[in-house]
Amino acid sequence: MKHLLKLIDLSTEEITEILNLSDQLKYELKNNIPHPRLAGKTLGMIFQKSSTRTRVSFEVGMYQLGGHPLFLSANDLQIGRGEPTADTARVMSRYCDGIMIRTFEQAEVEEFAKYSTIPVTNALTDFAHPCQIFADLLTIREYKGSFEGLKVCFIGDTNNMANSFLVGALKVGMKFTLASPAGYVLHPEIAAFVKDNPNFEQTTDVLAAAKEADVVVTDVWASMGDEAEEQKRQQDFVGYQINNEVMANAKSDAIVLHCLPAHREEEITTEVFEKYANVIFDEAENRLHVQKAILVKLMEK
Ligand code: CP
Ligand code: NVA
Repeated sequence: MKHLLKLIDLSTEEITEILNLSDQLKYELKNNIPHPRLAGKTLGMIFQKSSTRTRVSFEVGMYQLGGHPLFLSANDLQIGRGEPTADTARVMSRYCDGIMIRTFEQAEVEEFAKYSTIPVTNALTDFAHPCQIFADLLTIREYKGSFEGLKVCFIGDTNNMANSFLVGALKVGMKFTLASPAGYVLHPEIAAFVKDNPNFEQTTDVLAAAKEADVVVTDVWASMGDEAEEQKRQQDFVGYQINNEVMANAKSDAIVLHCLPAHREEEITTEVFEKYANVIFDEAENRLHVQKAILVKLMEK
């Protein structure tokens, strides 16, 4: 694995290796066993969009691995004034040992990787959020023991989270049902990926999607970058919510995941959110452990 740009690029074995290394690093952290596997290395972290979890977990993770994180707001970089991505990538390759980028266009991350001589990690684009899905898979494996025979139900937008979750879920052998409003269709690359896969289904029927689900997931109705569509989406997504009725359709031991930030009473009710808060915040914690594993896989020589 040279870069982490999107989950489609990874094999099931590579995904499993990262999850297993996450378990190991989590164990070492919880038992105060030092693991300075990236001592002396620097990670450049470019943010074009806001972040709490991603920024903090990458920074803390790099520190725990003995390396140095460099937070770089795109607004403060020349890239924010139009310096080409290709030039920024070539310059940063001369200073850093790895790069993490959160931005809008997937093409920008791909362009960065094309010109970079150091590993590039996608920390969210409009198309994909692979780091989050590693945390979600780790959380599912912790709560359910394995992925075998599990059904994931994702309620909401055909966005970066849905794209990445369905790829990750199908790659590790789970079933995936997506409930989204009419007109919210899959990105062509994702549609091609799921074509003829009997483990994938998309429907507009939330209750049917949740039937017998082991994992129920949602995400915001309007993502970062969708601000202009916010009002339209408030109408389109009415009913695309995790609530008690939806959970009554899922398995009795189903868990709820949310990548956060959550909009209560929109995609999830306060009651359901608080009922499953332990799982949701374990999921948030797992961002730290999986990202350390990703960084070690990419940057350790
Ligand atoms: N889930 C997630 O990526 O959160 P942040 O936007 O706070 O990084
Ligand atoms: N779909 C959301 C995820 C935030 C972590 C967004 O892109 O804003």
